[in-house]
Amino acid sequence: MKKIVLTGDRPTGPLHLGHYVGSLLNRVEMQEIHKQYVMIADIQALTDNFEDPMKVRRNIFEVVKDYISVGIDPSKTTIFLQSQIKEIAELTVFYMNLVTLGRLERNPTVKTEMKQKGFGDSIPVGFLCYPVSQAADITVVKAEIVPVGEDQLPMIEQTNEIVRKFNRLYNTECLKEAEAVLGKAKRLVGIDGAEKAGKSLGNAIFLSDDSDIVKSKVFSMYTDPNHLKVSDPGNIEGNVVFAYLDIFHNDKEEVEALKAHYQKGGLGDVAIKQILYKSLEKLLAPIREKRASVQDVDIYEIIGHGITETRKVTEHTIDEVKDAMSIMKW
Ligand code: TRP
Repeated sequence: MKKIVLTGDRPTGPLHLGHYVGSLLNRVEMQEIHKQYVMIADIQALTDNFEDPMKVRRNIFEVVKDYISVGIDPSKTTIFLQSQIKEIAELTVFYMNLVTLGRLERNPTVKTEMKQKGFGDSIPVGFLCYPVSQAADITVVKAEIVPVGEDQLPMIEQTNEIVRKFNRLYNTECLKEAEAVLGKAKRLVGIDGAEKAGKSLGNAIFLSDDSDIVKSKVFSMYTDPNHLKVSDPGNIEGNVVFAYLDIFHNDKEEVEALKAHYQKGGLGDVAIKQILYKSLEKLLAPIREKRASVQDVDIYEIIGHGITETRKVTEHTIDEVKDAMSIMKW
């Protein structure tokens, strides 16, 4: 049965291979089965980038280009911009009555992020409240499925608490609970061997990187620091090249053979990096080509069309919500 799906990304930088295996591939599949919305969360991006709004603005187009280049098809997926849907802001305000400060402070993802950002005692209210706004993103299109990474599970949980409370309090069924669906792939390690490849960590291969950059990133990958001579036995545990080969090299038997050879000794880092670079290029070259073929005017139109489509639904939702809350209408 066709369900409503919503996901989103903060436009704070270009998307990378971690996004590709973690969620973009998933979306390319989902658009064939379900009614899919993909939202560029520019307002959420401002909650921790409010001092640099141009960074957010610039990246909106980059992120949509990344979507199109990997095969998210705007005739199947509705791509829209959060800031253009006023109903999200309205819902956020209504939902704030249903959430306590204590509950917001207990959200584990927000807690971790606050520590990372070093807000100390000066926590911007907007940042603390972004899970409430995310509940609005999800419920405004009545999403039933939200494909996300593990770190987003607390947001879905909080969304569903709001939905249940709203429906009970106002004696309605107009809001729908959503189900979080985790991506197939686990997280992708950074090229430096860090646990996670991240936009801001400087350890990711971007979908928009050109061939030379991909090459230099592959050749700088963390391998086995004790594997000094080609003839030395090498370690594949924690070896980034093999972690990437596992995911991006199509011939799995060859990967196993390479691992055995490396562990035995006689296979050098340059050789395995060369192989990985080729496999990555096989994936990235068509993505790059597609990317080069889309113009800014196309992107402008795609987003505009997505906004119009989304509004048709969100205007209806906000009417129902206001009716349920006995808010007057003129
Ligand atoms: N918080 C998400 C992230 O940081 C982005 C996001 C905003 C989102 N609104 C959403 C994801 C709604 C799923 C559903 O990646």
